[in-house]
Amino acid sequence: MSYLLQIRNLKKHFPIAGGVLRRSVASVKAVDGVTLDVLKGECFGLVGESGCGKTTLGKTVLRLYKPSMGHIFFGTPNDTVNEITTLEATNPKSRRLRRLREQYDISMYRGRDLLLLRRKMQIVYQDPTTSLDPRMLVKDIIGEPLIAQGIAKGEEAKKMVIEILERVGLSERSLYRFPHEFSGGQRQRVAIARALVSRPDFVILDEPTSAVDVSVRAQLLNLFTDLQKEYGLTYMFISHDLSIVECISHRVAIMYLGKIVEYSTTEEIFEKPLHPYSQALIASVPVPDPTQRRERAPLTGEVPSPVDPPVGCRFHPRCPLAMSVCKQKEPLLIDAGNQHYVACFAVNREIS
Ligand SMILES: Nc1ncnc2c1ncn2[C@@H]1O[C@H](COP(=O)(O)OP(=O)(O)OP(=O)(O)O)[C@@H](O)[C@H]1O
Ligand SMILES: [Mg+2]
Repeated sequence: MSYLLQIRNLKKHFPIAGGVLRRSVASVKAVDGVTLDVLKGECFGLVGESGCGKTTLGKTVLRLYKPSMGHIFFGTPNDTVNEITTLEATNPKSRRLRRLREQYDISMYRGRDLLLLRRKMQIVYQDPTTSLDPRMLVKDIIGEPLIAQGIAKGEEAKKMVIEILERVGLSERSLYRFPHEFSGGQRQRVAIARALVSRPDFVILDEPTSAVDVSVRAQLLNLFTDLQKEYGLTYMFISHDLSIVECISHRVAIMYLGKIVEYSTTEEIFEKPLHPYSQALIASVPVPDPTQRRERAPLTGEVPSPVDPPVGCRFHPRCPLAMSVCKQKEPLLIDAGNQHYVACFAVNREIS
């Protein structure tokens, strides 16, 4: 098993300008210290309530946003990542650290390096009506990345476009049509073709089935699984629909207010969620059998503002198990083999 993506203490803060001089007076801490690893060839699910920072995390990883802090490694050997992490802690000003980061840490990439990276990492958004340019023909929508990245042009590009179109289930006749001439599901297929035409290794699927009805959703999910096998893709599947994430992901991370609360294999997360937030989130999934009752109370209240997140454990104002220590100390993220979790004070009380 090797890692494709390794994220270390990643932060993305959006400044809020205020006053006459429009100085930065505060910031939205959309992503606030995320550390996680994505394995080559897996579908990594990312779930959490609306506004908890999933899209921002995805866009920062793809370098569509410049990170405020932290490291992102893509296809970097494990030893190198460990060396960088050690140097960061022991010798942060060393020349070797700077050189290694410039070479491997994509949070430092600029210009041509960034352009080359775009080929390998792509994103499919929730709503193809807004993500596809309505004035462009399908052949140009899909062919554009090939030309922009200097991969192919002319007849060769057209051949590649037709090939991927057919692969996502659309015919050659779609080439000279505009996005509005398609149904929602077909439009999403165009967006998938555009993302895959440059043959990326990693694709972020950001709520890719939220804008379509249930039957189309099932077809798209099958298509994602088939394409993953055929092209050896690695996915990050973002959604707040836990039942979809459960059926498509190998592993799942639960995000809350800019941080990862826990991540593990899909089975572990759904059968034995460790953190009170994961437990409550999973308890909010409707049970198909009305005679069965959930053991735990589902979530109440709303996600607090990421401008001023709660001190201590971010979940404490909504947590049914909160104790006084939760308001003062921030719990740590623990790595325990497959499982990575925030060591909740209340849950771990019996263990410690
Ligand atoms: N460009 C931006 N400038 C300022 N704040 C932003 C920006 N983009 C996102 N935010 C804020 O960052 C927080 C996280 O937003 P984000 O869109 O990443 O959440 P999400 O988990 O994807 O939500 P959803 O499930 O609704 O898509 C929100 O409070 C949002 O208002
Ligand atoms: Mg989002």
